Amino acid sequence: MNKINVDIPEQYKVTPFTLNQYVCDGELKTWYGPTTEVFSTIETINDEGVKGPTLLGHVSAMDQQSALEAIASSVKAYDRGKGEWPRMRVKDRIKCMEDFTAKMVSKRDEIVKLLMWEIGKNLADSQKEFDRTVEYIYDTIEAYKEVDREGAKFTNVGGVRAHIRRGPLGIVLCLGPYNYPLNETFSLLIPAIIMGNTTIFKPAKLGVLLIGPLLEAFATSFPKGVVNVLFGRGREVASPIMKSGHIDVLALIGHSSSAIALQDLHPNKNRLRLVLGLEAKNPGIILPSADLNNAVSECIAGTLSFNGQRCTALKILYVHKKIRDQFLAAFTEAVDGLQLGMPWDNTLLTPLPEPHKPNYIQSLIDDALEKGAKIINKRGGEPSSNFIFPAVLYPVTKEMKIYHEEQFGPVIPVRDFEDIHLPLDDMAESNYGQQVSVFGTNSEELAPLIDILVNLVCRVNLNSACQRGPDVYPFTGRKDSAVSTLSVHDALRAFSIRTFLAAKDNPLNKGIINDMLRERQSNFVTTDYIL
Ligand code: G3H
Repeated sequence: MNKINVDIPEQYKVTPFTLNQYVCDGELKTWYGPTTEVFSTIETINDEGVKGPTLLGHVSAMDQQSALEAIASSVKAYDRGKGEWPRMRVKDRIKCMEDFTAKMVSKRDEIVKLLMWEIGKNLADSQKEFDRTVEYIYDTIEAYKEVDREGAKFTNVGGVRAHIRRGPLGIVLCLGPYNYPLNETFSLLIPAIIMGNTTIFKPAKLGVLLIGPLLEAFATSFPKGVVNVLFGRGREVASPIMKSGHIDVLALIGHSSSAIALQDLHPNKNRLRLVLGLEAKNPGIILPSADLNNAVSECIAGTLSFNGQRCTALKILYVHKKIRDQFLAAFTEAVDGLQLGMPWDNTLLTPLPEPHKPNYIQSLIDDALEKGAKIINKRGGEPSSNFIFPAVLYPVTKEMKIYHEEQFGPVIPVRDFEDIHLPLDDMAESNYGQQVSVFGTNSEELAPLIDILVNLVCRVNLNSACQRGPDVYPFTGRKDSAVSTLSVHDALRAFSIRTFLAAKDNPLNKGIINDMLRERQSNFVTTDYIL
């Protein structure tokens, strides 16, 4: 057990624990097989008096057999559409979700603390991640009521009366990312569940222990087999699930290489629907008319919030030559003024949770320096065991790795331009297409630029950093950046399909439908208005 440094506030101290429970067939089960150690890169002093990564506990390293058990559980619960959950009335599904959320809310402090330790996210952002997720669930419930109300009617066209609703797709495999282990994973899982699908969820490589406090809520809030939660390596657990051919939707936020590898394992790819949030390299474009103070502060937040470990982070800056010197002087000063601290210190910069990340960032810096870039801020590249101080690299060229790779960490490449077609052409050629930030104050210059940018990415942020939220807005991307669109409303669509009752408009059918409605005989054919 770790001796915890005295300067860690009492309420944030951790005691290692083993997470060997999982959810399958509606039960909280215990795994008796091998486990793996979970470390935080936040350093503490151990029993031998040595400072190093902190052991947080152990997590189950589940195997193919467990994966097959989860598949069997979700297949049984869906029962080819005959299951209780896919046929359940919408208002009853909503009740289960509300029950789950009430249980989840009671775990806030535990989960926030684990977010800080497992992924190094600062306190304010960890709290925000939790609260935003709860809000997302409540917004999803309201959006589903709206979808249900829209379906609570009949249309009559060409002598055919129709009752059109959205129905589940089947079995969904949900895999989330380590940087938003709660929010982004739940932004897939919650709509998948509520639309009547059955689900298998495996947490990301980091941010696993924090799912532990929610297992009982998953097991007890929904009918058996609706939510199955597994732990282990993707290769061991996710691969056999895909190979089984039972998955109808692959919902993944991560890298396209994982999405492609998993898709390729499915024996009937044509049946597999994809909901994917993938890599991005959002540019920030600073025009000569930019409000300098605003551009600097938004670019700091955009490039370095959570150390740049956000898919929406600004990962390359394009500065017009007319404003370049002023902007870079102010920007580098602001970068050098940032503090590195512990998550509970609420600094912008915190330890990087991936042990190899500082070396990787260093390799990007070395490559850029060899090819002619310079580190233009004083503290850029200062190393420590679990961090590397953000380096602002300029001038960056296409020959450098940092130009192409999604760094997902604290290093900021900068290019300059005179002709706006340089950033536009770079964006058009790139494999990414999520968002862009454009900084300027001249509407005559901005308007035609926006007309082009909206066709290169899916969100143009004017004088503001890129971001996903508010979650009711569409979150998607072009090229390698996404498949399908997520927002509270769009996610409900992504995890469902239109399905309907059609009947020739004649007295016999009218009579049958009237009886069904009056006697409330069907869960699907209903005109009830859910308040
Ligand atoms: O990692 C990608 C997230 O969707 C980013 O969300 O813009 O709210 O940080 P955010």
